[in-house]
Amino acid sequence: MALFLLANKMKYLIFTITCFLIFLLSECTTFSKSKSVSEKIQIKTTETIDTLISNLYTLKNNIKKNEKIEIIKANFLNNRITYKSIEPIIEYQFQGLTKRINGPALPDIKTEDGQVLPPHGYQVIEQYIWTDLNDSTKSELMNEIELLITDLKFVKSNLLVMETTSSKLMEAIQHQLIRITTLGITGFDSPIAFNSLKEAKASLIGILEFSKILGNNKEIDLQINSAISYLNKNSNFDSFDRMNFIKSHLIPISEAINLLSNSKIVDQDTIKTLKPFSGGLKEFFSGKFDSNYFTPYAISYSNPIKIKLGEKLFYDTNLSKTQKISCATCHKPELAFTDGKKIASDFVHGGKLKRNTPSVMYAGLQNSQFYDMRSIYLEDQIEQVMKNPGEFNLTAETIKNRLLNNKEIKKLFSEAFPDQDSISNYMIRNVISSYIRSLSPFKSKFDQQIASSKNIFDEAEINGFNIFSGKAKCATCHFIPIFNGTIPPWLNKSESEIIGVPQKAEWKNAKIDPDKGRYEINKLDALMFAFKTPTVRNIEKTAPYMHNGVYNTLEEVIKFYHLGGGKGIGIDLESQSLPFDSLSLTEKEKIDLKKFLLTLTDQ
Ligand code: HEC
Ligand code: HEC
Repeated sequence: MALFLLANKMKYLIFTITCFLIFLLSECTTFSKSKSVSEKIQIKTTETIDTLISNLYTLKNNIKKNEKIEIIKANFLNNRITYKSIEPIIEYQFQGLTKRINGPALPDIKTEDGQVLPPHGYQVIEQYIWTDLNDSTKSELMNEIELLITDLKFVKSNLLVMETTSSKLMEAIQHQLIRITTLGITGFDSPIAFNSLKEAKASLIGILEFSKILGNNKEIDLQINSAISYLNKNSNFDSFDRMNFIKSHLIPISEAINLLSNSKIVDQDTIKTLKPFSGGLKEFFSGKFDSNYFTPYAISYSNPIKIKLGEKLFYDTNLSKTQKISCATCHKPELAFTDGKKIASDFVHGGKLKRNTPSVMYAGLQNSQFYDMRSIYLEDQIEQVMKNPGEFNLTAETIKNRLLNNKEIKKLFSEAFPDQDSISNYMIRNVISSYIRSLSPFKSKFDQQIASSKNIFDEAEINGFNIFSGKAKCATCHFIPIFNGTIPPWLNKSESEIIGVPQKAEWKNAKIDPDKGRYEINKLDALMFAFKTPTVRNIEKTAPYMHNGVYNTLEEVIKFYHLGGGKGIGIDLESQSLPFDSLSLTEKEKIDLKKFLLTLTDQ
């Protein structure tokens, strides 16, 4: 009996232990099944990197074996298409490095220490394969590919120790949608092989896969698949209807992803650092940029009183010795803050050259000021205007004393800076800058067209936009939607370009304008004739055009680009960063392009 009881107890014990073991085991397996978001991203990305690396070795081998050029081209294109599917993560987590992976094939110029770093990565390899592959360049090309492999290996090993949370993934996906819109379908990314539309498709497939890590969502599936089938049906780069694609496909995808963030992802990690904007494509197009992002310090941040005060000072002739000029003498609001003159009457803003007065609208949304980029922040230069004999010709001290005589201004200063008990030179510059930073209204017909569910544009204007952002390549420098040189989606760098603006409006044997642009400030050959890319918003009102006011009409500007810039009109300019060939625009295309430019006027 006792024995029987013991046996029974044993059975019971064995049963319990087995149950416990089964429970443990199942817990372990469910644990291993529910990988974190970060792990899932790591797996997808690093597996793809392995594929990329092995395919790059194949490409190298094929080049070594002198394979047919078609095969080499196909190897290359497939490789970059694969890269596109993981680009959001690499661009997001390795911002500093991506220039070397798929940045433009132009040198990286570090003005701080005068270094000119040669470009590397896919676009350099693309250039070799499409334009310059022969026995003597073969070894350089092989080195470039090897370097890309090294960079990808670096990305892989670092990614394994990095955390990519849901909110970071969400932001990375939205960035990728902005990248497709501004750098992808515009041709910025694939300037020679013109594979942009296929690459956009690969990007979208990548976005779909990454979005699944955040959760399955029917709307996202539906929208992405419909965008992909649109791309399948419309594969001609020149005739691609970008306006329709952005409005009917890219923005809805971005919205669907945004909804995912509102409903499911409660991720406390959302970093609260200052960003130029937050949200998706719709927010990006709405012009809700945080201009504080473009200021040097927290004390420089804007507020409504600063803007009001800055506006007063902008029009205040008390700032000049003669009490006759103000900022608005040259930056007139009715001309979108320009003066209608070929060049300003004097040397201004501490510059040594007489130049055309640019608009100050949207100047708050760029990371460098002036045609030669000699200032980073708006605050930097206003002091020069004040001291300069050709301009206000007053010391900041005198200006301050004059301003203090005005009770209203004195009161506004104390409201704008409640912690300060006297007016400093910096405060004067900061309030004027705050006013300039408020001059980015995004209230043009173009902005309405993007925001509306209907078409506000007529057919010619839509065609003009499609040419601007496609065949004519304008949007590869004047980036949508600010239309200046500030590069999306991070907006932390503004570009200059060498386009070869002539001294006179001549169309043959022209001579380059003697103003050397950025070279005047940093004596680096790579900066010779480089000028900051200005916005083309409000271009209807800002004639004459270019740093020297050489062109009086938009027809002339379009003709200049149509002919291939400086090189196309006979200027010997090896370093021109604008494509040399004619754009082959028809007369109607030129007219439509101009019609589009006229939609950029703020109402
Ligand atoms: C005599 C005419 C004149 C006056 C007065 C003047 N400016 Fe300018 N401004 C110019 C010219 C010309 C340039 C381009 C200079 C260059 O790039 O070298 C310019 C450039 C600028 C820029 C850079 C814009 C860009 O996109 O790069 C800003 C900002 C600016 N001015 C603000 C001001 C403010 C603020 C005042 C008053 C404190 C002022 N200006 C007074 C003629 C003037
Ligand atoms: C390679 C880069 C690049 C491309 C491509 C490009 N631009 Fe420009 N654009 C610039 C730069 C840089 C300037 C300023 C040049 C200067 O003042 O010397 C400029 C100036 C302009 C101006 C004059 C702005 C002003 O306020 O004076 C207009 C208008 C313009 N571009 C329109 C276009 C159009 C239209 C296209 C397409 C046909 C185009 N751009 C393509 C870089 C580019």
